Amino acid sequence: MLAGGGDYSFLVDLIDVEMGRKGSLGRQVSVRFDRNPMNPDIVLRPASQSDASLLERWDRQPHVISATTDDPAAEKAFVDAYWPDELAAQDEHNEYLIAELCGQPIGAMQIIDPHLESTHYWGEIQPNLCAIDIWIGEPDCLGRGYGETMMRLALQRCFADPTVTAIVIDPLASNVRAHKFYRRLGFTPVGRRKFGDDDCLVHELKRQNWRSNFSEDAIAIQAGTE
Ligand SMILES: CC(C)(COP(=O)(O)OP(=O)(O)OC[C@H]1O[C@@H](n2cnc3c(N)ncnc32)[C@H](O)[C@@H]1OP(=O)(O)O)[C@@H](O)C(=O)NCCC(=O)NCCS
Repeated sequence: MLAGGGDYSFLVDLIDVEMGRKGSLGRQVSVRFDRNPMNPDIVLRPASQSDASLLERWDRQPHVISATTDDPAAEKAFVDAYWPDELAAQDEHNEYLIAELCGQPIGAMQIIDPHLESTHYWGEIQPNLCAIDIWIGEPDCLGRGYGETMMRLALQRCFADPTVTAIVIDPLASNVRAHKFYRRLGFTPVGRRKFGDDDCLVHELKRQNWRSNFSEDAIAIQAGTE
């Protein structure tokens, strides 16, 4: 990121775009953002009952299984989840989303209010947070930047609520590739924690860090609410 704050660099980039990619000295300059722009072919849509079989299929993918359990013998991710029931149990504090690339489902997300969500998965936790889970189901869609766009869309969705102060996530402590992914997005580790049998490394992204890391995303939702 350029020194001097995200908003400033975003404006400079916009000016470069306006100037037809020529700098003030007439040299060709590259169009740079603080971050890559989001992939416009990816959208998040609410999950419905008709997605249950898709989610069940993704639960059998080895990369999804290893992200959800340290049991090397596991044959399924989210072993306690029966998707028709999970999907039926959605409410204003617990929603599943499907990410689509050019209209084709590629992955899923869950966004909850960990303080108000009915299963109290997070136990005692402060209000005004969102907890996010993400998994790309299609193996050939991994490592192509789609996860970053999915997370940025979800972060916009969460922070559009002005009362939300931070996002928390609970990757397995063993899921070091996911830690790297989250840290690149600005999350910081806050501590190791057991959720049932799962040994997790909780990470957090505060609103102010999101605003400075993704100023263009913050500006976009601000513009949408004005
Ligand atoms: C974590 C995840 C959402 C990242 O999405 P993505 O589109 O693959 O990520 P990007 O292309 O933006 O970034 C790739 C980075 O993701 C990380 N990553 C994590 N798991 C990965 C996997 N199974 N395959 C490829 N990359 C993975 C890597 O750190 C990679 O960085 P690198 O290219 O420098 O090695 C996705 O890889 C995934 O769904 N993994 C399996 C489920 C999971 O781990 N979910 C998180 C549970 S908390």
